[in-house]
Amino acid sequence: MKKTRLHLGLFLVIVLFSYGCKNQPVSISSVYEKKADSIIRLMTLDEKIGQMSLFTSDMSSTGPTMRDDYVDLIKQGKVGAVFNAFTVDFVRDLQKIAVEETRLHIPLIFGFDVIHGHRTIFPIPLGQAATWDTAAIEKAERVAAVEASAEGLNWTFAPMVDLARDPRWGRVMEGAGEDTWLGELIAAARVRGFQGTLLSDNNTILGCVKHFAAYGAPQGGRDYHVVDMSERSLYEWYLPVYKAAVDAGVASIMTSFNEIAGVPSTSNKWLLTDLLRDDWKFNGFIVTDYSSINELIPHGVAADLEEAAKLSANAGVDMDMQGSAFLNCLSNLVKSGDVSEKTIDEAVKRILVAKYRLGLFDDPYKYCSKEREEKEIMNPEHRAFAREVAAKSCVLLKNENKTLPIPKSVKTIAIIGPLADSKADMLGFWSGAGQAEKCVTLVEGIRSRTAGTVNLLTAKGCNVDDDDVSGINQAVSVARRSDYVILALGENRMMSGEAASRTDISLPGIQMQLAEAIIKTGKPVAVVLFNGRPLTIPELDYMAPAILETWFGGTEAGNGIADVLFGDLNPSGKLTMTFPLNMGQVPLFYNSKNTGRPINPENPYEKFKSNYLDSPNTPLYPFGYGLSYTTFSYSDVKLNKESFESNDQIIASVDVTNTGDRDGEEIVQLYVHDLVGEVTRPVKELKGFRKVLIKKGEKVSVTFSIHPADLSYYHQDMSFTYDPGNFELFIGANSRDTKKTEFSIR
Ligand code: BGC
Repeated sequence: MKKTRLHLGLFLVIVLFSYGCKNQPVSISSVYEKKADSIIRLMTLDEKIGQMSLFTSDMSSTGPTMRDDYVDLIKQGKVGAVFNAFTVDFVRDLQKIAVEETRLHIPLIFGFDVIHGHRTIFPIPLGQAATWDTAAIEKAERVAAVEASAEGLNWTFAPMVDLARDPRWGRVMEGAGEDTWLGELIAAARVRGFQGTLLSDNNTILGCVKHFAAYGAPQGGRDYHVVDMSERSLYEWYLPVYKAAVDAGVASIMTSFNEIAGVPSTSNKWLLTDLLRDDWKFNGFIVTDYSSINELIPHGVAADLEEAAKLSANAGVDMDMQGSAFLNCLSNLVKSGDVSEKTIDEAVKRILVAKYRLGLFDDPYKYCSKEREEKEIMNPEHRAFAREVAAKSCVLLKNENKTLPIPKSVKTIAIIGPLADSKADMLGFWSGAGQAEKCVTLVEGIRSRTAGTVNLLTAKGCNVDDDDVSGINQAVSVARRSDYVILALGENRMMSGEAASRTDISLPGIQMQLAEAIIKTGKPVAVVLFNGRPLTIPELDYMAPAILETWFGGTEAGNGIADVLFGDLNPSGKLTMTFPLNMGQVPLFYNSKNTGRPINPENPYEKFKSNYLDSPNTPLYPFGYGLSYTTFSYSDVKLNKESFESNDQIIASVDVTNTGDRDGEEIVQLYVHDLVGEVTRPVKELKGFRKVLIKKGEKVSVTFSIHPADLSYYHQDMSFTYDPGNFELFIGANSRDTKKTEFSIR
């Protein structure tokens, strides 16, 4: 009886403190903090540590599951958040346990890797980035949040913003590519898309920017490997993208698996506290990656789990993902004085504040509406938008003799290749809630686009990744019977993503052999590529008349690609990662340094220059590259002045003319080169772009305005400023093909 009264009393206190927090502004210094403090005062140490623990459900796990007793743990108040649990009924059941069966009734947060769509899957993030359309990217994340929240989720482990310059690393598919400045814009757009304007709305979810920090720079492109770089590179290229997400108000951040200069991120106090909290003023909560506290032992910075837990808690980690390190060790560590209870209280406060921001204390079941679930999941508007993004993310890499779009005169099309009709592969990696059976393959997309007006023949030819040549002859005979061939080649979805690094990034298996056999038939051939990373495909580029890069386009991949192949949509995507010519060039990225012995373009193999004996330095397809079914010509660049003061605007413009025979969108890019810096500067840096629709035969003037301060970088003393002196300014269709002018800053 006594116990029940205490129970009810605590419940009332929480309800009273929770009252009225619905539409409060989102700030840790706000009323939520006070509410959180009032709960913390009622909590035992074990209950606090419970809030700092995140466990996977048994629904769909993204790593080795270390505990399957999560339901009991929830009952005991030892869990603050659950991941890999969604659908309204399941979430409601788990939430009910937390809210009704624990002493303090504190609701759970439900997280999941919603990386490129939830049920309606969008193109992989690297593909979305190729649209250079931040509004579309934001809207895609909005759709993802609407669907995820309709299935009980209120936290996504995204955006992944790790800058990546090495295509061997499989996780390049999750990010925005190799450019910091573009990455910043995309990171902010993605945060806005997930979190909307108010986190307490029932269709917004917490974002979690990851993986902090520099996870995208593992040695040799091998996942989880060591990261070691200069402080300047870290500050200049890698950190700003996370900072952009923090500035956009991201609610949480995930530590990375890797070490940086010998210190693993999960135990890096400088990174998590001095930089993130003190300098950047991040006020959300910090979660580890999957069991990364435990991994401090094999990293070799902790002798046992207790030491690992101590290091991470003291570094600033608030929540332990899946490792049970906090659950098992924090209590002793507090008792021994190795971790202060104040540190624990701060962490718990940040987690409770997130729960207040979501409105979970008002209504723990607010994300559990059957009605919303039925209405939102894969609704036709979502699918229509996914189709649009799938089409917009396509990058036309080659198009000799106007092979594409498919001419209207074509009567019989052969669709050949291991990826022509593979539903599951369309999803790409990180599409946990995506359903293969709902995906539209290339064959299906073309079938529905042509609706019986064209005769379609199909042949697989070979598998993605083995050496079985038995299907090639049949594929060749199918090609011979057609008057146009679409060849669907690339990687399967498991060849990129986590734990999917490759040392050879050419077309896997015997696909090149299949391509050669088909191209030799002399039929017009358009290659459609599916892949999660840049590939080295110089032979294919040499032989195939047309190549369309389509990434993994998601649920509507086949329809979106068909829209492009038949010319209903003129392709406008441009690469955000360099496609190297060969593996030996990797890492290869556009904003490299000139060196003291730059290559002589007239004689690329000149001895004692920074080059190779056996390969040019130049890539197959440069950053920013992508063709259109029309053509564009660029005028010379005009500047408002030649010499600028610090407060001036540098206004640069070009006239871009659509010289082809159809309307098209062009992504006009502006780059700058600081000729003499206190520190060496890249040969080109992206500083602006505009995506413009230009009607056939028309000319538009495209104007950019930048400020001298936009040319700032970290000097020798790490001050962030720009150099007076001379600069080159380039405007063009990609990082290679540009028009140049010069200016100076006094
Ligand atoms: C990945 C994270 C992911 C987590 C939870 C880890 O293995 O590195 O990106 O969010 O699993 O699924």
